Amino acid sequence: MSEGNCARHLRLRPAVFVATGADGQVALLRGAGWGEHIGVLSAGQRELLGELAADEHPEAALLDRFGPGTAALLDRLRAGGWLTARLSFRNRSLITVRPLGPHLEPRAAPLRAPRLSRFALMRRAGDELVLESPRCRASVEIHDLDVLTVLHRMAGSAEPCVPAGLTAGVVAELVGELAWYGFVRDAEEDMRADLTTEQWSPHELWFHARSRAGYHDEPFGLTRWADGRHAPLPARRAPWAVEAALPLPVPDGAERAGMPFAAVLEARRSVREPDDEHPLTVAQLGEFLHQAAGVRRVLRDDRNEVSLRPSPSGGALHGLEIYPVVTQVTGLASGMYHYDPFGHRLEPVPAAEPAVRQLVWRAAEAAGGGRSPHVLLVCTARFGRVMWKYQSMAYALILKDLGALLQTMYLVATAMNLAPCAIGTGDSDLFAQATALNPLEEASVGEFMLSSRTT
Ligand SMILES: Cc1cc2nc3c(=O)[nH]c(=O)nc-3n(C[C@H](O)[C@H](O)[C@H](O)COP(=O)(O)O)c2cc1C
Repeated sequence: MSEGNCARHLRLRPAVFVATGADGQVALLRGAGWGEHIGVLSAGQRELLGELAADEHPEAALLDRFGPGTAALLDRLRAGGWLTARLSFRNRSLITVRPLGPHLEPRAAPLRAPRLSRFALMRRAGDELVLESPRCRASVEIHDLDVLTVLHRMAGSAEPCVPAGLTAGVVAELVGELAWYGFVRDAEEDMRADLTTEQWSPHELWFHARSRAGYHDEPFGLTRWADGRHAPLPARRAPWAVEAALPLPVPDGAERAGMPFAAVLEARRSVREPDDEHPLTVAQLGEFLHQAAGVRRVLRDDRNEVSLRPSPSGGALHGLEIYPVVTQVTGLASGMYHYDPFGHRLEPVPAAEPAVRQLVWRAAEAAGGGRSPHVLLVCTARFGRVMWKYQSMAYALILKDLGALLQTMYLVATAMNLAPCAIGTGDSDLFAQATALNPLEEASVGEFMLSSRTT
């Protein structure tokens, strides 16, 4: 290492198991899902792996000590995403690059106009400040204020600065490392004026990249991460007002027969004009809710209480709740209710009146005509129902459940010759104001207008 450059310290990332067969075959394993067959290694290379698993080592020292073939093996480990690399300068730690998956891209030539990617963000992770991006398979711990100075400059300029505590060579190396992983890109690259580039807002690309597998190897999917830490939520939401709950009529078999299924599919349309001369009735609302959302069976999987309903739901968890906001329903006072799908009843919700009126008004505006629906069904998610069990993808799963519920509601409304229309621009803050619910616990995620129709 020359005085002007970074020292690089390598070690295997945590929780990697080095498996060695009697025939000298080596495989690296991480959890149940990640593994790479490395092949037959010499005794020296196996020793190198053992040392990297046990501790951090300067790359230069490893190259000196283990001789020919070491650089190629280290490159292979880096490409597989098995190595963390800490860069230091004069014994000051600058950054640590922690891979989040394989890193196959070759090191590119220095960028012409390097800028911090507009998708990059910094946040606290444990006791560290980390730089991450949905376009990068690595997380970078920032250990030094001079690195922040370099990043700050690259937000506004393609001309990297050299803070007093660093050298031009060190800054070039830092920028090169960040460019290699994609945190720093050519000025134009993620700001190009084409649809493919401009259409992505950072939070949407983050959500896309981290709510599906790939792009990262973080804990993901059905992990039951909260088991043993927090109690799972019951299938049935705690009631709002048991004494005041209004039982709804259950439709009889004849009413349920309705239109043939193919005819319902053909007829399904969004209908935005209510028939205000013949408002929805409480019997119709009861039938609709029973058909679309009533619980049919309650079961247990090995840890959770689950239920079966007309709509499908990931893990049968049914984290969604329905809050009918009634403006005009014969036989029912106006106001907000919660639908209890287990008892098929409505629980009055003591909601703030101005916020409730705003919810209805906004939905009517979103439907273009400004005419209030007879009922606005606000769908909320009790997040803990799904997030207790699924990791990193739970919110996406909730929205998928919502899509399934919306379609079920559309089909039931069509079969009943009612006027349905989904609304895509609901205001979760307004719902929180109306109900005083903690939005981290339960918040609105979708809206659906329901009225009687003229034809
Ligand atoms: C998730 C979703 C959100 C929607 N949001 C709105 C909305 O905010 N305003 C509106 O008037 N229609 C909304 N719609 C209805 C669509 O405009 C409608 O489905 C589309 O125009 C096709 O017409 P159809 O439903 O009659 O087949 C939404 C539909 C869905 C599925």
